[in-house]
Amino acid sequence: TDLSRIRNFSIVAHIDHGKSTLADRLIQLTGTVAERDMKEQMLDAMDIERERGITIKANTVRIEYPAKDGHTYILNLIDTPGHVDFAYEVSRSMRAVEGSLLVVDASQGVEAQTLANVYQAIDADHEIVPVLNKVDLPAAEPERVREQIEDVIGIDASDAVLISAKTGVGIPEVLEAIVTRLPAPKGDRDAPLKAMLVDSYYDAYLGVVVLIRVIDGVIRKGDRIRMMRTGGLYPIDRLGVFTPKMKDIPELGPGEMGFLTASIKQVRDTRVGDTITHERKGATEPLPGFKPSQPVVFCGLFPVDSAQFEDLRDAIEKLALNDASFSFEMETSAALGFGFRCGFLGLLHLEVIRDRLEREYDIELITTAPSVIYHVYLRDGTMTELHNPADMPDMTHVDHIEEPRIKATILVPDDYLGDVLKLCQDRRGIQLDLTYAGSRAMVVYDLPLNEVVFDFYDRLKSVTKGYASFDYQMIGYREDYLVKMQVLVNEEPVDALSMMVHRDRAEMRGRAMCEKLKELIPRHMFKIPIQAAIGGRVIARETLSALRKDVTAKCYGGDATRKRKLLDKQKAGKKKMRQFGKVEIPQSAFISALKMD
Ligand code: GTP
Repeated sequence: TDLSRIRNFSIVAHIDHGKSTLADRLIQLTGTVAERDMKEQMLDAMDIERERGITIKANTVRIEYPAKDGHTYILNLIDTPGHVDFAYEVSRSMRAVEGSLLVVDASQGVEAQTLANVYQAIDADHEIVPVLNKVDLPAAEPERVREQIEDVIGIDASDAVLISAKTGVGIPEVLEAIVTRLPAPKGDRDAPLKAMLVDSYYDAYLGVVVLIRVIDGVIRKGDRIRMMRTGGLYPIDRLGVFTPKMKDIPELGPGEMGFLTASIKQVRDTRVGDTITHERKGATEPLPGFKPSQPVVFCGLFPVDSAQFEDLRDAIEKLALNDASFSFEMETSAALGFGFRCGFLGLLHLEVIRDRLEREYDIELITTAPSVIYHVYLRDGTMTELHNPADMPDMTHVDHIEEPRIKATILVPDDYLGDVLKLCQDRRGIQLDLTYAGSRAMVVYDLPLNEVVFDFYDRLKSVTKGYASFDYQMIGYREDYLVKMQVLVNEEPVDALSMMVHRDRAEMRGRAMCEKLKELIPRHMFKIPIQAAIGGRVIARETLSALRKDVTAKCYGGDATRKRKLLDKQKAGKKKMRQFGKVEIPQSAFISALKMD
């Protein structure tokens, strides 16, 4: 195909601003999908994504568009994930295209993810076409939002396209803008093959499907290829494009995007950002900028019913085959038995995986406190990465501890600014910037990641009634006064509840934790001390008093059915309990106890 007749682009937007609806419209208007095949939100493949309205994996679709200039253009749309956890995948997919449509909801304005994503597009040298969506809404203020885009992002919005992805208004103008305002790709057909591995996923029938963007050279069905970073060699079985149905084609040249299959066994064998070349006479230098995505948040997953351990192992292995950024290893906890220590890109990723394990595989789970990776420097000069507070070395061997920090950008209406600043301050934040755009404030904070992983986002939503938007990126490690806090129930340490905390906040956290547990643990026939401790030192304590006498006593001699019912209930309840020494702790206590405030 003639390079000048190709346009490759992505759509960047804040969640819910209408990215998927616009993509559907573009596909529909160009007749790429027959009307009756049009399912809402074609690009979101997984049910879970559809339910949550979050696009997780990048996806591409090829659209043929007869433009006003009389030529037919090939438009390759790449759908990028919208959530912060997948920032690395967004940045990779951005490098695969030349331009972006910046979709902003004209009734809402610029939000934190709009900023994060558009800066990624700017970093990738994209030409950007601003698109103001939802102009059908009475609350739409396209003029105000246009100004805001110029003030906050600093790009020209005078030619912004006004659309309603819902009614279809403005969609033809978007297609023309793609052709006239976005640049054509460049590439050398005669150079050795270089194709970027944009994404991959597992298909039950086809095996691993790899999405690629050809930079130089030509790739053909039957070619033998080499993954330059992983070294894997494969013969190509199928080569094609998504229309959005899979359609086989004999070759893909420079500037083109499509898919290949090559009897690759697992998604783990494909690395996003890797360079694909020919096995023989291939390129010598891979494309720049590759880095594997690393899990940053860890937690333990244990089956509520220990008999389900093997089922959990199978399920986790299956999920991992299709998700190279999810890591796991077996873990044993004195309290919880056998389970897995798992690593995730962020909290949403954690939730998605946990949800899938519970729903698709029907396994009830206990999730331990999410933790970040600490760098623990020992007195002998070595450093170990700590993924699990339970593995914390003895403090006498520790010189100092560093924790990961993030740069958080929060956009919030003025009225809630005070509450947001207080929240960030409470979480040991350092304010970096505070600016205004109209009646909205933009605050930038340097925050410890561990203060964010548990419930920061929930708190932010609640103190701002849902009006704040949030985005973050990792900025590196810094030393702080961190300690491991243990929780002891009836003198026995409960591993699953230990956590790393800042020394100055330890008493407060310890007290809150003991008070919570006192409410959550049912009374037993004996007195139960609940303590928080650092090393051997108890810093907080509560006592759960003993249960007086037999509670079922009042049933004796009474109604036998009622008594049986009560006992049945007790039995069902017990299944959800975990035995800690002589004490039973309900499953719900683990999550609740870790929530602050
Ligand atoms: P994620 O997939 O979660 O990133 O969201 P998205 O940006 O893809 O948004 P989506 O297309 O799912 O749209 C979000 C909501 O806005 C849906 O309920 C749409 O029906 C609605 N919506 C999209 N475009 C318009 C529009 O032009 N007008 C109105 N009134 N509603 C719209």
